[in-house]
Amino acid sequence: MKITITKNENDFDITAAWRIIAQMFEKPNSVIGLSTGQTTIGMHSVVSKIHAQYPFDVSKITLFNVDELTNLPREYFGSCYTMIKTQLAAPLGILEENFIMPPTMSDDFEKEAKLFEQRLAERGGADLQMLGIGMNGHIGINQPGTPFESETWVSPMDPDFEARVRRETRVPDDVVLGGLTRGIKNIMHTRKLILIAKGKRKAEIIKQAILGPVTTDIPASVVQLHPNCEILLDAEAASLIVDKI
Ligand code: GLP
Repeated sequence: MKITITKNENDFDITAAWRIIAQMFEKPNSVIGLSTGQTTIGMHSVVSKIHAQYPFDVSKITLFNVDELTNLPREYFGSCYTMIKTQLAAPLGILEENFIMPPTMSDDFEKEAKLFEQRLAERGGADLQMLGIGMNGHIGINQPGTPFESETWVSPMDPDFEARVRRETRVPDDVVLGGLTRGIKNIMHTRKLILIAKGKRKAEIIKQAILGPVTTDIPASVVQLHPNCEILLDAEAASLIVDKI
């Protein structure tokens, strides 16, 4: 595992943005997985700004998000589709057919999960995953206890996470939320993983995920087993590991 520690949040956003752009240059038909949340807004904005000022060809780039909320309208501002579309896909001018996302509404999410994987596989599979980490160590929406062999599925929501999504998205109480997420196995089959975290609030979980045992109690700890994984942190997220690595 390569560990990169940036000196502050701004440098983190810029470094992460260049990782995404570098992938696009290295392989112009790359299949790139993103994550939504506070961690990635800044990096998406930097990629968009660089592309606006110095346009480069993204016509063959495929973007997708590692997870998607279910039972919300896709146009809802809190859906992953809308967040990624607004933050990155639209500013870059990614073609609609090259933005692969499961639907937020369906009668058969099991079928949608398979179709999502099939569409990624048809393009050669995921090259890069910018992988966020939850406060409890979740990746995608794979909560603690999820088997490492899990394949893309609809995960029940952790109550704290659900409360946060409800707060952030203002979804009505009578709507049952779920999360369609790439399984841990699918995430691990990505050619390159970059686990990303910034801010003091992530310092403890980063310590456990990176320096602790590989365990399903901390889903993100599985990245220790990936052959091509970078851990990209700002100084605050790295504060509890910096003198131990
Ligand atoms: C949610 C998303 C994850 C993301 C995580 C981190 O759980 N489904 O994909 O990695 O949030 O969010 P934040 O960056 O806001 O801490």
